[in-house]
Amino acid sequence: MESTKHMSHLFTPLKIKDVTFKNRIGMSPMCQYSSDDGVASNWHLVHLGSRAVGGLGFIMAECTAVSRTGRISQGCAGLWEQKHVDALKPIVDFQKSFGAVTGTQISHSGRKGSAATALSSHLDGDDPQGWETVAPTDDAFDPDGTRLWKAPRALSISEIETIQAQFVNSAKLALEVGYDLLEVHCAHGYLLHSFLTPLVNTRDDAYGGDLRGRARFLLETVKKVRAVWPENRVLSVRLSVHDFVEGGLDLEGTAQVGLWLKELGVDILDCSGGGAVPDARGAIGNRTAEQPDMAGELRKATGLPMMAVGGITDPLQAEDLIANSKADIVLLGREMMRNPHWAYDAAKALGADPRHVLAEQYGFFVGAS
Ligand SMILES: Cc1cc2nc3c(=O)[nH]c(=O)nc-3n(C[C@H](O)[C@H](O)[C@H](O)COP(=O)(O)O)c2cc1C
Repeated sequence: MESTKHMSHLFTPLKIKDVTFKNRIGMSPMCQYSSDDGVASNWHLVHLGSRAVGGLGFIMAECTAVSRTGRISQGCAGLWEQKHVDALKPIVDFQKSFGAVTGTQISHSGRKGSAATALSSHLDGDDPQGWETVAPTDDAFDPDGTRLWKAPRALSISEIETIQAQFVNSAKLALEVGYDLLEVHCAHGYLLHSFLTPLVNTRDDAYGGDLRGRARFLLETVKKVRAVWPENRVLSVRLSVHDFVEGGLDLEGTAQVGLWLKELGVDILDCSGGGAVPDARGAIGNRTAEQPDMAGELRKATGLPMMAVGGITDPLQAEDLIANSKADIVLLGREMMRNPHWAYDAAKALGADPRHVLAEQYGFFVGAS
């Protein structure tokens, strides 16, 4: 069906490497607390599959742990052995059959791991006490202990190398699943971000100190991951572009990190914020509205394509971010949970042909409107 209607920027395809996004709308990664020992369930098929049916150009699966102890909670997703591949593959095949680009976000939770066990207390096989967590130092995320996180143990250098090997293992497994895009999670106070930010990393060895030292864990990991992630597929890094706390990371430092990542062959940055310390506002906190504009700043400073995220709900706002070169892809989190057919509504609002957006089965029924 050929469109005679205006094609908005949001609905203009994007090609990065050999990956073509049919539009610029993506779902942001969101933990679903519905895995058993990291293994995806029917919940994921519905959560991710319905957004593919809804016509998204890109769907990022939730933060997916590189090891059992790299999970945030007992219900979090994982990708450390074959059983995870076997559960994810049909889900990814389903999403692809509706033309969505698929991505996953590999992650280690660091000192924010072993948390929120109440969310998944129905699961057997895991110690209800959780597990020992690790971090740049042995300082707890929440020193007064009133919340969910326990005191971590500072990582040794050989343990850092072990975790880097786990990232590489997950990248290889992600390839086996068939993902088009792989993202390394370096935001929200999880392990890689906790090394990057001066708010947490006070180490005095090669993995601490100045920005270059604090970035070492991330940069080495990305270099190793890039070596196994095929050149023609997309590699992304999610950064907390700003810590939103005095003395924390800001745009200037993040831009430098972005340039280093670019040198290592990263194709796109995913611009989030906050989460390093309790008063730094969470990733879904009240400062997220500033993030989409920060993506534009980082795009200018690094020359890299950007994903913008945070408080995007309005099609005109999303269109503006792409049209004004602030971002190349917009990611929606909570709004996409509320409305899996947001892309259809956006097409109508922007004067694009909505019949192109939905899966054919739906388009047949509602496309004539
Ligand atoms: C339930 C929930 C789970 C989330 N899990 C993740 C995650 O796994 N990885 C991540 O990088 N961000 C995660 N986030 C943050 C979102 O990806 C997104 O950046 C944030 O919600 C702001 O976008 P929004 O205003 O469109 O919701 C989560 C957010 C929510 C609401």
